[in-house]
Amino acid sequence: MTGKLNRGVAIVGAGMTQFGAFPGKATRDLFVEAFREMSESVDKGFDPNQIEAVYIGNYSSDLFEGQGHTAPFMTDHVGLTPRPATRCEDACASGSAALRSGLLAIASGMYDMVLVGGIEKMTDLPTERVTDTLATASDALYDVPAGFTFPGLYASIATAYMDRYGATPESFMKVGLKNHNHGSLNPKAQFGQTIASIMERQKKSAEKKGRPIPTWADEMEFLHDDRANLVIAWPMRLYDCSPVSDGAAAILLVAEDLAKNFSDNPIYIIGSGQASEATLRYRSDLTTLSSVRIAAQKAYEMAGVKPADIKVTEVHDCFTIAEIIATEDLGFFKPGQGYEAAEEGVTSRLGPRPINSSGGLKSKGHPVGASGAGQVVEIWKQLRGEAGERQLPGDNLNLGLTHNVGGTGETAIIHIYERR
Ligand code: COA
Repeated sequence: MTGKLNRGVAIVGAGMTQFGAFPGKATRDLFVEAFREMSESVDKGFDPNQIEAVYIGNYSSDLFEGQGHTAPFMTDHVGLTPRPATRCEDACASGSAALRSGLLAIASGMYDMVLVGGIEKMTDLPTERVTDTLATASDALYDVPAGFTFPGLYASIATAYMDRYGATPESFMKVGLKNHNHGSLNPKAQFGQTIASIMERQKKSAEKKGRPIPTWADEMEFLHDDRANLVIAWPMRLYDCSPVSDGAAAILLVAEDLAKNFSDNPIYIIGSGQASEATLRYRSDLTTLSSVRIAAQKAYEMAGVKPADIKVTEVHDCFTIAEIIATEDLGFFKPGQGYEAAEEGVTSRLGPRPINSSGGLKSKGHPVGASGAGQVVEIWKQLRGEAGERQLPGDNLNLGLTHNVGGTGETAIIHIYERR
């Protein structure tokens, strides 16, 4: 059955914090910042008292910060109690799960205005404990006892993809290189530097410390250097991995018929698809995520558009291989051709199929519960022509898509957005 929304829904405000490491700030501080930026982005202003319900994506404040039951606390900190406040958890897809919950709540006719957000604060824990905490989103019965971590799980997907299609570690490096180039134009990015500038910084640092100055001729030589680009879980190296991050994002949804009261340029959510899938051990093919294919098909059908129509896309590049597979599962490229497209620059900002203009999770950062909501902020800015230096060219940017995955695809949530 193809789902249809009983009532259209529009985004009239969107904001986010910078993603990064913020030792002095708690999740609630970050959420307040994101809420403020969102409020300022509403063109014609709004009265927060009009917000009727709050949905917050959060993976695990319990384990990261010792704080469960986060939604009412966030709601209190932005002055919105006693509104109903619900936490949405679908691992790294939690932000999109919150968006979908808000969308369905308005489409059902229950509410006219809803606040949606995403939050996560990961950097209070050392990396080993972050790795263990994230691993609770994989299968605790099978994956974890077998020694898998998330870099390890995606490394398995990467080796299966290389084996089947002939991609090489360089194919993945090209994705990281591109996303750092994009992120260098995004003031909200955690690692907002090109690989070239990171190389130069490391050369200068070596010189200052009186150490031998590295002689990398170019970015690819840097990325092949085992000391500069550590192997995390072969073939995934440091610059193939999203970082450990803190951050928050907030989005204001209203019923379509009310949108023009708040903005002359609302962005409409015209497609939404979600699907689930068994853990890796049950899959016959590691090179594709059936959940993404199914969720994407549902979203395209609801929106009445085809993959070729989409102009702006944010995909869940928690690891570089994930971006390549996403571009195939979304129908942008045939199976096995996504890596060639990445190598040839097709997916770069100025290429014919730009992917992750924000820098993606790789460069912008991946505060897991906030990442899906952060993707929406990028689409909102790009479709409205407000993305600054990284604004995609063209005067026909009318359709955007977000692809947000939980675990290794056990959850997939796709949304399609339209500027009219
Ligand atoms: N990309 C690029 N640089 C990174 C980075 C990343 N992902 N993570 C850390 N760095 C940099 C740091 O800025 C630091 O640089 P500096 O020495 O110039 O200051 C250096 O690498 C070491 O940082 P550190 O925090 O000690 O790294 P780490 O070894 O503890 O962590 C990873 C690196 C890759 C293991 C960690 O980022 C990670 O686990 N990422 C995956 C997260 C994940 O699984 N998310 C869920 C996905 S489903």
